[in-house]
Amino acid sequence: MADNSYQEPEPPFDLSLRPPGFGEFHGQEKVKERLMLMVEAARQRKDVLEHILLSGPPGLGKTTLANIIASAAKSNIHTTSGPQVEKAGDLAGILTNLQKGDVLFIDEIHRLHPAIEEYLYPAMEDYRLDIIIDSGPSARSIQLNLPKFTLVGATTRAGMLTAPLRSRFGLVNRLDYYSLEELCVIIMRSAGLLEIRIDEGGTREVASRSRGTPRVANNLLRWVRDYAQVRADGLIDAGTAGKALAMIEIDQDGLDEMDKRLLETVIYKFNGGPVGLSSLAVAVGEDASSLEEVNEPFLIMQGFLKRTPRGRVAMPSAYQKIGAEPPQGAQGKLL
Ligand SMILES: Nc1ncnc2c1ncn2[C@@H]1O[C@H](COP(=O)(O)OP(=O)(O)OP(=O)(O)O)[C@@H](O)[C@H]1O
Ligand SMILES: [Mg+2]
Repeated sequence: MADNSYQEPEPPFDLSLRPPGFGEFHGQEKVKERLMLMVEAARQRKDVLEHILLSGPPGLGKTTLANIIASAAKSNIHTTSGPQVEKAGDLAGILTNLQKGDVLFIDEIHRLHPAIEEYLYPAMEDYRLDIIIDSGPSARSIQLNLPKFTLVGATTRAGMLTAPLRSRFGLVNRLDYYSLEELCVIIMRSAGLLEIRIDEGGTREVASRSRGTPRVANNLLRWVRDYAQVRADGLIDAGTAGKALAMIEIDQDGLDEMDKRLLETVIYKFNGGPVGLSSLAVAVGEDASSLEEVNEPFLIMQGFLKRTPRGRVAMPSAYQKIGAEPPQGAQGKLL
């Protein structure tokens, strides 16, 4: 039983687990309901979908939803990302290739160059592209009409979007961390697809350490599967899952080594804070934007850290987590 998993190459892990339609996408009920309504309304009017912005921390399903939206609207999807569009000409190339009703998915849309963003405004609003050819005295602007299309933007940093860009999206759909129950459903679905034997206790154990994030849940599930295959009899129960996750140093709350290093650094090196993000990033040897997008939102949501105007502050539960003595009149409470 355990042997043939080595022989058969699996389809790419992520692709095979990505829910293909709204029906298989669990959680984010409010966002899903709105999106389904928009798709249905456009279908009834035989119109093209409005532009849609999806925001939220990594791994919660923005790319997945963009693909689901396109398939529910029976549209072709073209995918690019903010940093990939380097010149106005790149954008013009993409836009002029669209057909009526197509979905253009721009991932990391907050990383679009400001000059390129400006070209996007009339494209989104009036389906028109103003391009300037040549420079100096011979410069002239030509206008191209575009087919009516739907822009789906995804961002991990909605706050970094310029106001004019944000206002051109009807609604901002913010994805939130998933509940334990929702993650359990997602894990059971993935386990079914990957033919992994896992019981309810094992599922809950993996879910509770997944930081509210389906991508993390799927990754942990894959690791636990490997562990169970080699060290146990292949069935994942709570005990096996716990041991497997302890081996990769994911603790009861889903905190990994970097999270703990971050908390330790704030507490020991910076006296509990406040400490600025860039000093913290240097001290832990990690990129500031990845700290801000990946580690921090979860630590804040769980009440370990607090973001203040003067910097990051460790909260009493952070002291508890790393077994440090909270200072008298804990700073976290004062600020
Ligand atoms: N609601 C869900 N139900 C089932 N699986 C999900 C769900 N949301 C996400 N996933 C799974 O989690 C993985 C990550 O999702 P996705 O790539 O859509 O995240 P993302 O928000 O685009 O992340 P990033 O910001 O890093 O691009 C997907 O491969 C998918 O299998
Ligand atoms: Mg994505």
